Amino acid sequence: MILRGLLQAGLDLLGEQHELRVGGLDSTPEQWLELVEGADVIVVDPTVPVGPELLDMAGDRLKLVANFAVGYDNVDLGACSERGVTVTNTPDVLTDATAELAVALTLSAARDLPAAERSLRAGEWSGWDPARYRGFELSGSTVGVVGMGRIGRRYAELMSGFGVDLLYTSRRSREEVEMELGAHRTGLDELLSRSDVISLHLPATDHTRHTIDRRAIDLMKPTAILVNTGRGGLVDSSAVAAALSEGRLGAAGLDVYEGEPGVPEELLGAPRTTLTPHIGSATYRARDAMAELVAINVIAVLEGREPVTPVE
Ligand code: GLV
Repeated sequence: MILRGLLQAGLDLLGEQHELRVGGLDSTPEQWLELVEGADVIVVDPTVPVGPELLDMAGDRLKLVANFAVGYDNVDLGACSERGVTVTNTPDVLTDATAELAVALTLSAARDLPAAERSLRAGEWSGWDPARYRGFELSGSTVGVVGMGRIGRRYAELMSGFGVDLLYTSRRSREEVEMELGAHRTGLDELLSRSDVISLHLPATDHTRHTIDRRAIDLMKPTAILVNTGRGGLVDSSAVAAALSEGRLGAAGLDVYEGEPGVPEELLGAPRTTLTPHIGSATYRARDAMAELVAINVIAVLEGREPVTPVE
């Protein structure tokens, strides 16, 4: 049962031996409820909330919810575990792609590439002007990595190539990151007040909701660059948009939004902002590997084996 879609790479692995019901990208929550009836497996993506209603509609045969994403805030883990349903996600295979997008957003926000490009395309570029199109450079700056999981770690590694000082927050200290990259672990408030770039790499939970709110922004430098490739809920978008408009925040590079696929109106109008449509893992390599991992997990569970990447 595939509620929206799975790339061909995953379908090829699943082969012909299973009955596949595919909802399609335009399918609605009402259709999902019909589609899941009697399913052994449900394949979902971050836009499909999986809660008691959907699970109960699937019924007793349901063994697995396979999420086509590393983040699984769309899945009610408690409701799955109460019903004995395993949940899998797609870690590792998208780490490089997502960290690379975070670097791209960092650079784009620092130099405000969207505004420069818009200006050029509008025919406004009238010649070399020493005062125009200026931004921030990364070399010598302090970069704060909020959350030192796989993607945060890879982002830190890539950013270290720019000759930056690295700060990070993490529930536990990461000695290898400190040894290899010279990163220093701090509390969130200290990281916010010392960093020139702040990149979010946290899962979305009740605890991390609006990690960047008005209070956090007030701690940040007015020139700070905020990057979010995690989940939209990590950021209070109204507070970020207001700070950008009022010159209390330097720039923002955002890939994820609360209420996707809607994008908060105030962000669309905010200055010095690079906005991308949730494309962190959208490389050919990563998306194919994610689809394959979904299929590998599905096959394992249907054959009575342990899945490769269960959500613990
Ligand atoms: C995408 O957003 C993911 O969590 O993999």
